[in-house]
Amino acid sequence: MFKHSQLETVKAWLAQPAHAALPLHARIQRAIRQLILDGALGAGKPLPASRALAGSLGVSRDTVEAAYAQLHAEGFIERRVGSGSFVSEMTEFSPPRRPAPRDRRVRKQAPALSKRGEAMFRSGGVREPLAPRPFAPGVPETRTFPLHLWERLERQVLKEVGTGALLHGDPQGTEPLRRAIADYINLERGARATADRVLVLTSSQQALTLCATMLFDPGDRIFIEDPAYYGARRAFEAAALDCVPVRLDRQGLMAEQIMAEPRGARAVFLTPSHQFPTGATLALDRRLALIEWAARHEGWIIEDDYDSEFHYAGKPTACVQGLDPHERTIYIGTFTKSLFPGLRIGYALLPPALVQPMTVARTLLDGHSAPLAQLTLARFMEGGHFGAHVRTMRSVYAARLEVLVGLVRAHLSGFVEPRVPIGGLQMPCVLTGNLSEHAAVEAARRAGIELLGLSSLHAGGHGKAGFLMGFAAYTPAEMDVAVRKLAQAFRTVVNS
Ligand SMILES: Cc1ncc(COP(=O)(O)O)c(C=O)c1O
Repeated sequence: MFKHSQLETVKAWLAQPAHAALPLHARIQRAIRQLILDGALGAGKPLPASRALAGSLGVSRDTVEAAYAQLHAEGFIERRVGSGSFVSEMTEFSPPRRPAPRDRRVRKQAPALSKRGEAMFRSGGVREPLAPRPFAPGVPETRTFPLHLWERLERQVLKEVGTGALLHGDPQGTEPLRRAIADYINLERGARATADRVLVLTSSQQALTLCATMLFDPGDRIFIEDPAYYGARRAFEAAALDCVPVRLDRQGLMAEQIMAEPRGARAVFLTPSHQFPTGATLALDRRLALIEWAARHEGWIIEDDYDSEFHYAGKPTACVQGLDPHERTIYIGTFTKSLFPGLRIGYALLPPALVQPMTVARTLLDGHSAPLAQLTLARFMEGGHFGAHVRTMRSVYAARLEVLVGLVRAHLSGFVEPRVPIGGLQMPCVLTGNLSEHAAVEAARRAGIELLGLSSLHAGGHGKAGFLMGFAAYTPAEMDVAVRKLAQAFRTVVNS
């Protein structure tokens, strides 16, 4: 017979709501298996007769018999005719007892991660808002996306390739999409691309992590903009790289600091078309100087061209990759801003020598991107819909930026000064009054408004106090309500 405590354990297992979906005999079988795995029922110990256990649990004997039969089939118990059921000798090698609840809590706090795992965990990762609210930065307007058109193109793809779209895809990306991307960045971004040098990925973030792990060893130095995009910094820090901050001015990254740095570095990361978060455009002489530096030192230039589709005053400057004759530039692009973040398609335009290594490495991460989404996107681009969508959204966002600038000047003038950007989906604002950045961000959060503090983007957390205000994803009416709330929240803090 079971001891009282063992019987109670089985009963408690049966009563747990989490196990309610299992049939009764399976619940009894799992409960007894757990007693065996926990060491509460050792090898050779007898199990109660099925009739007796059925009586104690208030179930039919057939139910207990079904549970025992399963335990027997899995090798947990032996059944001896005439003498009953016993815990199998094989269970002697069962894992050690699970730690007591108290120990388990301790283990949860300090899991045994590798140094790399620890660094990845400590980086905090990159989590974007699931339901963006004003003024979460970097979010495009998705509520007006032409879903019907997308759906029609997806149906066309399915009709043409049929169940072929359900199979594994090329790890480098489907050929039509690589061709469409190469054509697009050649034409619009002045790149020097061919389809065979494009690697389709799930995101810029994946491209950054691939670069961090494939090109550098822990401890290698990399120059990064200061302030910098948090996703890039975290990808490099998680790979244990030594991030060397490089200051910025109105012309973008101060390349002369890199030239004058005696210890050098293996690479430089930058957002030259529209610096994140300041919005500066990197001057041509600095672009050329960096290309020269990379060639001379066999360094890499990692160019994150994340939102240059949205440039509101003339055309954006051509990308660095197109100016680099030495093949030292890795150009990274994404459809997160230009289409929608849920698409999860980004890409890297690689120097020829990196195409194979990077493609092989990505097979170890996720194999490949989903073929159906890639083929639909290729069709969206080939049919001119991408260009049309970007043009439409560019004028929507330009108008929204103008509205936000007006609202900030009208309602927040004592607190902040807007730094009107020439492009992108967010506007930096610099605090001018007595309000601290922390107080401003916290007051906003309490009022249901998202602001991304600028200091957190600076190396060491020291920078001009201020915040980013995303404007692309919010209508003028939504921004009007939010700015008024923000003004009220700031006044409350200052007057308290
Ligand atoms: C500078 C920069 N690069 C890349 C990204 C993200 O792109 P993805 O979603 O493709 O990782 C963002 C998004 O906020 C960004 O601001």
